[in-house]
Amino acid sequence: MQGFKHWQIKRDSDGLAWVTLDVAGASANTLGREVLEEFSTVLDTLDREPPKGAVIRSGKSAGFIAGANIEEFTKLANPAEARAMVRRGWDLFSRLAAVKYPTLALIRGHCMGGGLELSLACRYRIAIDEPGTKLALPEVMLGIVPGWGGMLRLPQVVGPAAALDMMLTGKNIDAKRAKKMGLADECVSARVMDNAARMVVLSGRSPRGLPFVQSLMNGPLKSVVANGARKQVAQRARREHYPAPYAIIEIWEKYGGNALNVPSDSPASLDAIFGSATTKNLVRVFFLQDRLKAFGKDSDFAPKHVHIIGAGVMGGDIAAVCALRGMTVSLQDQSVEKIAPAVKRAAELYAKRFRGDRKQVRFTLDRIVADPQGAGLAQADVIIEAIFENLAAKQALFKDVEVRAKADAVIATNTSSLKLEDIGAVLQNPGRLVGIHFFNPVPKMPLVEVVTANNTDQNAARKATAFVRKLDKLPLPVKSAPGFLVNAVLGPYLLEAMRCIDEGLPPETIDEAALAFGMPMGPIELADTVGLDIAMAAGKSLAGDVEPPRKLTALIQAGHFGKKSTQGFYSWENGRPHKGPAAQAPAGLADRLIKPLLDATQRCVTEGVVGDADLADAGVIFGTGFAPFTGGPMNYLQRRA
Ligand code: NAI
Repeated sequence: MQGFKHWQIKRDSDGLAWVTLDVAGASANTLGREVLEEFSTVLDTLDREPPKGAVIRSGKSAGFIAGANIEEFTKLANPAEARAMVRRGWDLFSRLAAVKYPTLALIRGHCMGGGLELSLACRYRIAIDEPGTKLALPEVMLGIVPGWGGMLRLPQVVGPAAALDMMLTGKNIDAKRAKKMGLADECVSARVMDNAARMVVLSGRSPRGLPFVQSLMNGPLKSVVANGARKQVAQRARREHYPAPYAIIEIWEKYGGNALNVPSDSPASLDAIFGSATTKNLVRVFFLQDRLKAFGKDSDFAPKHVHIIGAGVMGGDIAAVCALRGMTVSLQDQSVEKIAPAVKRAAELYAKRFRGDRKQVRFTLDRIVADPQGAGLAQADVIIEAIFENLAAKQALFKDVEVRAKADAVIATNTSSLKLEDIGAVLQNPGRLVGIHFFNPVPKMPLVEVVTANNTDQNAARKATAFVRKLDKLPLPVKSAPGFLVNAVLGPYLLEAMRCIDEGLPPETIDEAALAFGMPMGPIELADTVGLDIAMAAGKSLAGDVEPPRKLTALIQAGHFGKKSTQGFYSWENGRPHKGPAAQAPAGLADRLIKPLLDATQRCVTEGVVGDADLADAGVIFGTGFAPFTGGPMNYLQRRA
């Protein structure tokens, strides 16, 4: 009866229509133009013979709907085309919301952006209780707004505070949480989902309304809520860098959640948003991230057991992240006492991640085994060394590791400044050694550099890369060279900032100049956070004989190492620096600070430390937080030229 390419309608004996989206030729469902146009025909078909209810579900094992088709954004030629795209989704979902028969979205797996907006236009939503089920409106991360009805309907369903929080951060909501906040009407297991859908869609119950106070907040008190949200956003992102979050608040507050109602000369208009360089650059960053995610796909390596030597700051946190991803970890250090703090930190991390679900915390912690004798080494699929930064100690260790490791195990060092060639020189097969360079703090930092030397076995590097993906981190292949990519670009930037201190500029002024440029944290605060001893050591290995900054030397001599010792360039209390007001920065200060970083990135590309300019941008953004709205240092250089 139908002949659809992406959709399927099946009517059952109860009079229900089961509407399945299974986008042709794709592993995940996205809402491209053709898919939306066909959905309109689906609605026509249902209108001709209205069902007792319609259940919308996915035919993909990968999830429900990943969102709009982002490829199509990159092809929008002018504001009129952007408007037309928004109008297509807005009108279609308004039509879905208005159908006479009850509708239900059966959400299993990811339900993002346009997918959630489609679900919000249904009368009911059921979320399947599985780890993969995640609901979000992540448009803001691409510099755009949820224009297909999200800004109208999400506040009506969950109240404006929770809705703005979701729309302004783009964060994921799991199935249980979705039920708790009213985003889903039910949260059920996959086993009973079809029955649950049948019962709910035929129940005749009225959709859940907002409690009285929430409805005030979505009505007469809108401006109070909006002002609060604006203040919160201002702490994280400046309007000149990131217009989208401010536009979301304004569109909800003043334009009934309909982006099409905003006059085109307003900064919250679709013209302004789609015309901004930020949006183009954030979409670019999205694709760069996809490129990093694709590394390691050419390997079916599935490590189960990781052995980590050195349970300090890095080794301990690497262990925690591995166990979080389901791997068994044996954690070795010189004594059980040295391992205990790492296990305690892991417990704290899990308590936060699992929001106090003690059973989950216990299960995950049980996967970390304290192993002072190193008994786990011989069974491990991946062995990571994270002991002191000392060549002789690392060489001695790897000699022993090579003999005891399984023949096909990956053996890796987390060194940040030693040469892979030097550490590997003592091995019978130096080509086996790879660098897997994590960043501090490991649970938060998305990037991991996978380091190879000229003689590194490519298969070992592939396996190391696949392992990094299993941790859900972003692997960046880099060549063994001082500082690899990330530290090689951060070092000169921090050095320049500390030279400014020696010239008498206050730290607040320097940091403010970098923040105004769009860095997530100022360089002086960053140096204090990393640790001044570590910054000094990194500087020495990168800059060689260059005289270190005077103030840095003086602080270290006085035993002031920054945040960890509560005194550095700033004094620290409860993990926060005491900052005075920033003085007016001298003209050109931001450019002066950023220039060494840009130069170093350019040099890494020229010297082949990193594969190409795009990968350099990806590495610097995900490894240092470098202003994502610029699209990365190489993109910035090119645009500025
Ligand atoms: P750390 O000093 O916190 O921990 C090192 C641990 O290794 C200590 O617990 C020590 O008892 C243990 N250890 C030393 N020799 C050992 C041996 N022979 N057998 C077993 N355990 C031994 O050091 P951190 O900061 O964790 O650094 C470790 C490695 O990671 C270094 O190579 C460092 O360059 C690298 N790294 C450090 C980063 C950081 O921000 N701290 C960032 C990225 C890499």
